[in-house]
Amino acid sequence: LRIGVLGSGEGSNLRAILAAITAGTLQADISVALSDQADSKFLHTAREAGVPAIHVDGGPNPRRFGDAAQKEIAEHLQRAQVDVVVLIGFMRILKEPTLSLYADRIVNVHPSLLPKHKGANAPQLAIEAGDAETGCTVHLVTAEIDAGRILAQATVPVLPGDTPEKLHARIKEQEHKLLPQVLAEWRK
Ligand code: GRF
Repeated sequence: LRIGVLGSGEGSNLRAILAAITAGTLQADISVALSDQADSKFLHTAREAGVPAIHVDGGPNPRRFGDAAQKEIAEHLQRAQVDVVVLIGFMRILKEPTLSLYADRIVNVHPSLLPKHKGANAPQLAIEAGDAETGCTVHLVTAEIDAGRILAQATVPVLPGDTPEKLHARIKEQEHKLLPQVLAEWRK
Protein backbone atom coordinates (compact mmCIF):
# COMPACT_ATOMS: atom_id res chain seq x y z
CA LEU A 1 0.00 0.00 0.00
CA ARG A 2 1.45 3.34 -1.03
CA ILE A 3 0.33 6.09 1.31
CA GLY A 4 0.48 9.85 0.76
CA VAL A 5 0.09 11.97 3.89
CA LEU A 6 -0.97 15.59 4.30
CA GLY A 7 -0.53 17.40 7.61
CA SER A 8 0.10 20.76 9.18
CA GLY A 9 1.01 20.17 12.80
CA GLU A 10 2.61 17.89 15.34
CA GLY A 11 2.94 14.75 13.26
CA SER A 12 2.16 12.34 16.10
CA ASN A 13 -0.17 10.28 13.92
CA LEU A 14 2.48 10.16 11.23
CA ARG A 15 4.91 8.77 13.81
CA ALA A 16 2.29 6.18 14.79
CA ILE A 17 1.94 5.07 11.16
CA LEU A 18 5.72 4.91 10.73
CA ALA A 19 6.00 2.86 13.95
CA ALA A 20 3.36 0.41 12.71
CA ILE A 21 5.26 0.01 9.43
CA THR A 22 8.51 -0.61 11.33
CA ALA A 23 6.77 -3.09 13.65
CA GLY A 24 5.37 -4.93 10.63
CA THR A 25 1.73 -4.55 11.71
CA LEU A 26 1.14 -2.30 8.70
CA GLN A 27 2.53 -3.33 5.34
CA ALA A 28 2.83 -0.03 3.59
CA ASP A 29 5.13 2.71 2.40
CA ILE A 30 4.72 6.38 2.99
CA SER A 31 5.51 7.57 -0.49
CA VAL A 32 5.17 11.30 0.03
CA ALA A 33 4.38 13.81 2.81
CA LEU A 34 2.89 17.19 1.90
CA SER A 35 2.39 20.14 4.19
CA ASP A 36 1.31 23.76 4.00
CA GLN A 37 3.59 24.45 7.01
CA ALA A 38 7.25 24.50 6.00
CA ASP A 39 8.53 24.28 9.57
CA SER A 40 6.01 21.83 11.03
CA LYS A 41 6.99 18.88 13.19
CA PHE A 42 4.93 16.86 10.73
CA LEU A 43 7.27 17.68 7.84
CA HIS A 44 10.40 17.25 10.00
CA THR A 45 9.16 13.83 11.11
CA ALA A 46 8.69 12.77 7.50
CA ARG A 47 12.10 14.02 6.48
CA GLU A 48 13.83 12.25 9.39
CA ALA A 49 12.12 9.02 8.37
CA GLY A 50 13.44 9.36 4.83
CA VAL A 51 10.02 10.16 3.35
CA PRO A 52 10.01 12.72 0.53
CA ALA A 53 8.73 15.77 2.41
CA ILE A 54 7.35 18.65 0.40
CA HIS A 55 6.12 22.06 1.44
CA VAL A 56 3.24 23.30 -0.70
CA ASP A 57 2.83 27.05 -0.40
CA GLY A 58 -0.85 27.68 0.18
CA GLY A 59 -0.86 31.43 0.43
CA PRO A 60 -1.91 33.72 3.29
CA ASN A 61 -5.33 32.34 4.31
CA PRO A 62 -4.55 29.50 6.75
CA ARG A 63 -7.76 27.59 5.95
CA ARG A 64 -7.94 27.98 2.19
CA PHE A 65 -5.72 26.75 -0.55
CA GLY A 66 -5.62 28.43 -3.94
CA ASP A 67 -6.29 26.52 -7.16
CA ALA A 68 -2.58 26.35 -8.02
CA ALA A 69 -1.74 24.73 -4.67
CA GLN A 70 -4.67 22.30 -5.05
CA LYS A 71 -3.30 21.24 -8.43
CA GLU A 72 0.21 20.94 -7.06
CA ILE A 73 -0.99 18.57 -4.32
CA ALA A 74 -2.70 16.29 -6.85
CA GLU A 75 0.43 16.25 -9.01
CA HIS A 76 2.68 15.27 -6.10
CA LEU A 77 0.30 12.47 -5.08
CA GLN A 78 0.11 11.13 -8.62
CA ARG A 79 3.84 11.35 -9.15
CA ALA A 80 4.35 9.33 -5.94
CA GLN A 81 1.74 6.82 -7.22
CA VAL A 82 -0.12 6.70 -3.94
CA ASP A 83 -3.03 4.30 -3.42
CA VAL A 84 -4.50 6.14 -0.46
CA VAL A 85 -4.28 9.68 0.87
CA VAL A 86 -4.31 10.29 4.63
CA LEU A 87 -5.11 13.69 6.11
CA ILE A 88 -3.60 14.03 9.57
CA GLY A 89 -4.18 17.40 11.10
CA PHE A 90 -4.22 19.03 7.68
CA MET A 91 -5.71 22.44 8.38
CA ARG A 92 -6.56 23.48 4.84
CA ILE A 93 -9.56 22.31 2.88
CA LEU A 94 -8.68 19.74 0.24
CA LYS A 95 -10.52 20.27 -3.04
CA GLU A 96 -10.43 19.28 -6.69
CA PRO A 97 -8.66 17.78 -8.52
CA THR A 98 -7.56 15.51 -5.64
CA LEU A 99 -11.12 14.75 -4.43
CA SER A 100 -12.10 13.19 -7.78
CA LEU A 101 -8.75 11.59 -8.56
CA TYR A 102 -8.80 9.79 -5.20
CA ALA A 103 -12.54 9.41 -4.61
CA ASP A 104 -13.16 6.96 -1.73
CA ARG A 105 -9.39 6.74 -1.21
CA ILE A 106 -8.89 9.78 1.05
CA VAL A 107 -9.21 9.37 4.81
CA ASN A 108 -9.15 11.90 7.62
CA VAL A 109 -8.80 11.46 11.36
CA HIS A 110 -10.96 13.76 13.46
CA PRO A 111 -10.87 14.16 17.26
CA SER A 112 -14.56 13.55 18.02
CA LEU A 113 -17.22 10.93 17.56
CA LEU A 114 -18.59 12.25 14.28
CA PRO A 115 -21.21 13.43 13.40
CA LYS A 116 -20.75 15.24 16.73
CA HIS A 117 -18.39 18.23 16.93
CA LYS A 118 -17.31 18.80 13.34
CA GLY A 119 -14.66 21.35 12.45
CA ALA A 120 -11.91 22.86 14.58
CA ASN A 121 -11.69 22.67 18.41
CA ALA A 122 -13.60 19.39 18.70
CA PRO A 123 -12.17 18.46 22.15
CA GLN A 124 -13.20 21.86 23.53
CA LEU A 125 -16.68 21.45 22.04
CA ALA A 126 -17.05 18.06 23.76
CA ILE A 127 -16.16 19.62 27.14
CA GLU A 128 -18.51 22.55 26.59
CA ALA A 129 -21.33 20.19 25.63
CA GLY A 130 -20.85 18.29 28.90
CA ASP A 131 -20.30 15.00 27.05
CA ALA A 132 -19.36 12.05 29.28
CA GLU A 133 -17.38 10.59 26.44
CA THR A 134 -15.95 11.60 23.12
CA GLY A 135 -13.36 9.98 20.88
CA CYS A 136 -11.92 9.90 17.41
CA THR A 137 -13.20 9.03 13.97
CA VAL A 138 -11.47 7.85 10.82
CA HIS A 139 -13.66 8.71 7.84
CA LEU A 140 -13.61 9.16 4.08
CA VAL A 141 -13.12 12.68 2.82
CA THR A 142 -15.70 14.34 0.58
CA ALA A 143 -16.32 17.97 -0.37
CA GLU A 144 -18.45 18.41 2.75
CA ILE A 145 -16.20 18.88 5.82
CA ASP A 146 -16.06 15.95 8.30
CA ALA A 147 -19.10 14.32 6.70
CA GLY A 148 -17.82 11.38 4.59
CA ARG A 149 -18.50 7.72 5.40
CA ILE A 150 -17.24 6.66 8.83
CA LEU A 151 -14.71 3.81 8.72
CA ALA A 152 -13.85 3.42 12.42
CA GLN A 153 -14.28 5.10 15.79
CA ALA A 154 -12.84 4.78 19.28
CA THR A 155 -14.27 6.29 22.44
CA VAL A 156 -12.48 8.18 25.19
CA PRO A 157 -13.90 9.35 28.55
CA VAL A 158 -14.17 13.05 29.30
CA LEU A 159 -12.80 13.36 32.86
CA PRO A 160 -13.50 15.95 35.55
CA GLY A 161 -11.00 18.79 35.30
CA ASP A 162 -10.25 18.09 31.65
CA THR A 163 -8.83 20.94 29.61
CA PRO A 164 -9.12 20.78 25.81
CA GLU A 165 -5.38 19.98 25.70
CA LYS A 166 -5.59 17.12 28.21
CA LEU A 167 -8.61 15.65 26.48
CA HIS A 168 -7.06 16.01 23.04
CA ALA A 169 -3.92 14.18 24.23
CA ARG A 170 -6.12 11.30 25.50
CA ILE A 171 -7.98 11.21 22.16
CA LYS A 172 -4.72 11.17 20.22
CA GLU A 173 -3.59 8.02 22.06
CA GLN A 174 -6.58 6.29 20.49
CA GLU A 175 -5.97 7.87 17.08
CA HIS A 176 -2.46 6.40 17.13
CA LYS A 177 -3.98 2.90 17.32
CA LEU A 178 -7.03 3.40 15.14
CA LEU A 179 -5.44 5.03 12.10
CA PRO A 180 -2.74 2.36 11.53
CA GLN A 181 -5.43 -0.31 12.06
CA VAL A 182 -7.70 1.18 9.39
CA LEU A 183 -4.77 1.37 6.97
CA ALA A 184 -3.74 -2.22 7.74
CA GLU A 185 -7.27 -3.34 6.85
CA TRP A 186 -7.42 -1.20 3.72
CA ARG A 187 -9.26 -3.17 1.00
CA LYS A 188 -7.56 -6.43 1.79
C1 GRF B 1 -5.34 14.96 15.44
O1 GRF B 1 -5.93 15.06 16.70
C2 GRF B 1 -6.41 14.82 14.38
O2 GRF B 1 -7.56 14.22 14.84
C3 GRF B 1 -6.70 16.26 14.05
O3 GRF B 1 -5.45 16.89 14.11
C4 GRF B 1 -4.60 16.21 15.03
C5 GRF B 1 -3.31 15.93 14.36
O4 GRF B 1 -2.33 15.58 15.28
N1 GRF B 1 -7.33 16.34 12.74
P1 GRF B 1 -0.88 15.14 14.82
O5 GRF B 1 -0.31 16.20 13.90
O6 GRF B 1 -0.96 13.80 14.15
O7 GRF B 1 -0.09 15.05 16.11
